[in-house]
Amino acid sequence: MADHDQPTPQPQQVGVDRRKLLQISVQACGFAAAASGSYVVLNYMAPLPEGLGEQDVAIQENELKPGTALQVLHKGKPVLIVRDSSGGLHALSAICTHLGCLVKWSEEQSKIECPCHGAQFALDGKVLGGPAPEALAEIPVGVEHGVIRLGGPS
Ligand code: FES
Repeated sequence: MADHDQPTPQPQQVGVDRRKLLQISVQACGFAAAASGSYVVLNYMAPLPEGLGEQDVAIQENELKPGTALQVLHKGKPVLIVRDSSGGLHALSAICTHLGCLVKWSEEQSKIECPCHGAQFALDGKVLGGPAPEALAEIPVGVEHGVIRLGGPS
């Protein structure tokens, strides 16, 4: 029998068709986007680990310019320290009383805002608007030898 009588072997079709590959790629991208988004949200809303910030916070007074704010840990809890435009210091719990998101100082609005559902607070912690049921807790703050201290001067 001559070689030319044998059928030529066809390359075996291996692999995934393009449509299936595209579906898998889109699903993988969707999963990755959902996972990274969930991580950001959960990390933002997660309680801070106990044990951090057990000592009183000590910040150089000149680090906080009028109209700006710093977020620090005090006794394991996030605290927002705001220096108002006239130089006064205010320290408040940075945990929104609605559902526990971290509040932020808005220099443009001169008030504290919650990015989650829009609660707004005054510098004394009182609720100005939004769904927050209670004021932010005030933390005693003072300056001692040019250092801002929470919990008042010692
Ligand atoms: S958690 Fe702040 S307004 Fe809802």
